[in-house]
Amino acid sequence: MKNVDPNTLSADDWDEHNFPRATEQDFDRVVERAISRRGFLGGVLAFGSAAALMGTAGILGSTAARAQQGSRFAFTPIPAASDGTVHVPAEYNWRIVTRWGDALFSEADGDFDDATGGSEAMSDKVFGENTDGMELFVIGNRQVMAVNHEFTNRPVNLPQAENGTPRNAADVRKLQNLQGISVFEIAEGDNGWAVVMDSPYNRRITHNTPIRLSGPAAGHALMKTTADPAGTQALGTMNNCGAGKTPWGTYLTCEENFNGYFGANGDVAATGLAAEGRQRYGLNASGWGYDYHRWDPRFDAAANPNEPHRVGYIVEIDPANPDATPVKRTALGRFKHENAAVTVAEDGRVVLYSGDDERGEFLYRWVSHDVYVPGGDTSTLLDEGTLFVARFDDDQTGTWLALTPETTGMTAAEVAIFTRLAASRVGATTMDRPEWVALNPITAEGYCTLTNNRDRGINTNAGGDEQPVTGPNPRAANHYGQIVRWRPADHNHAADTFEWDLYVMVGNPTVHDDAYAGSANINAGNLFNSPDGMKIDTTGLIWIQTDGNDSNTDDFAGMGNNQMLAGDPVTGEIQRFLTGPQGCEVTGLCWSADRRTMFVGIQHPDAPFPNGEGRLPRSSIIAIKRDDNAQVG
Ligand code: FEO
Ligand code: CA
Ligand code: CA
Repeated sequence: MKNVDPNTLSADDWDEHNFPRATEQDFDRVVERAISRRGFLGGVLAFGSAAALMGTAGILGSTAARAQQGSRFAFTPIPAASDGTVHVPAEYNWRIVTRWGDALFSEADGDFDDATGGSEAMSDKVFGENTDGMELFVIGNRQVMAVNHEFTNRPVNLPQAENGTPRNAADVRKLQNLQGISVFEIAEGDNGWAVVMDSPYNRRITHNTPIRLSGPAAGHALMKTTADPAGTQALGTMNNCGAGKTPWGTYLTCEENFNGYFGANGDVAATGLAAEGRQRYGLNASGWGYDYHRWDPRFDAAANPNEPHRVGYIVEIDPANPDATPVKRTALGRFKHENAAVTVAEDGRVVLYSGDDERGEFLYRWVSHDVYVPGGDTSTLLDEGTLFVARFDDDQTGTWLALTPETTGMTAAEVAIFTRLAASRVGATTMDRPEWVALNPITAEGYCTLTNNRDRGINTNAGGDEQPVTGPNPRAANHYGQIVRWRPADHNHAADTFEWDLYVMVGNPTVHDDAYAGSANINAGNLFNSPDGMKIDTTGLIWIQTDGNDSNTDDFAGMGNNQMLAGDPVTGEIQRFLTGPQGCEVTGLCWSADRRTMFVGIQHPDAPFPNGEGRLPRSSIIAIKRDDNAQVG
């Protein structure tokens, strides 16, 4: 295996590096194969008729038809950009709310500086690094945000350390503190929105915060460690990517690329499912450059082989109660959770969707056993239920396959801990990296961004499952992405069957004239790639954020920097609303209580955003408003 610097690789690339799949085929041959499947692609492009049957107007229909429909967007779409700042439509303005290193508590005020990324001592009292999923909660007459911090930029936070590799336990602790979650009150004043310093709601949750384990895996032998012989009390939540919100006002934070934090100073004792699990979840001896395992034995899988089984979950946090211990809800499965989209079915059961973001992994749904009663006890509602995984069939129908002891041959605890292995056993559909799921609040339908998948049609997933060019993943070596949509039978999210189509197949019609041109709702005016963050607002508009190739050349020509677009679920029209600074990913969004402000996350810019030339780039949350202070959208 080549020596590479993990600081230069994405989590996705790092997994590929550690578990290389079969040698990639010549790209031209792969495209040739996709084109030879024109029969099926014709089917995709004819989705208009199927969509009409499902009650929508020709989503992938002709441009002319769409031009007659008129736009419902209350903004002037903006062009692509390749510069170092944020752009929004002419009728809108934006301001910074908070940046990596800004104080949540007054004792940390002024601690941050560009040369050090702030002190270790204050690292758990500031807004953490790499903002991602977020939600806003109205608590009494206050507005409280919960925000994920996905990862750290090690060389900047540890400037004295070679390649940002920790030199001691204090270095590790600084990195651990700058990740996790920030919970903080915000208020709008004359200069816009700002953090309410020292609010009683302000809280940092880090890689060391006590977290209770609940659900079928809690207390299982595979969850027990020397420090926690009962297997019920974990420390920390890691690689918090997307998020979600329950109807009862709690925050759901989703652990994604957790494998990268673990290493091994010696052989790891693992047999059977545990050994298979290490391979499938990408756990290895070196980790992804964090080097925690050299300074914090919890992350040394040779010493603590079960510790990785305690990460990879969805964690529930009560933002109204800063003293409440967060809870890892193992019933919701262990995988590289992107986000959590929650709704309540007609019969009152809670339905939660979550994608597993890795090439060829799956889309999941969980349905609670008990019903949600507003105002009732919700403390164990997310602990008992059934996990399902999606199978998409080529006839545009699909089935949620239950992951139970009967269907998988695994115990309920094993299903919770090795969910990927369970899903492979029932024949789930390998997907093009499921990122965020969003649910339409107006009609029963779900959307999932499938961001890209260079292995589609070429290699298996990490478990050896084939990745055929078919169904909702219709292009080999898919470097653009698509958004799949499903409508549950009988408008019931708890039903076990659904119909599906593609809301959009992203592409570049200025470069390609085949399937890589994209669907008909992609045009020279709204080019983008790699849809990732996504939410649907209360009016039913789909907000799509991107995390893709921003080279603006070749296949990506005309797309510019990562961005946010708005989509009309009925007509399929998509227009560009925001462009981010060079190098960033746009991720995370929520609205103020009055919906006059939209909060958007700008993660890992390369350009010196937001402070300007010569300054350190800093992940930030911005507040976007209309100039006339009307509602956003
Ligand atoms: Fe953290 Fe899949 O994005
Ligand atoms: Ca993402
Ligand atoms: Ca992504």
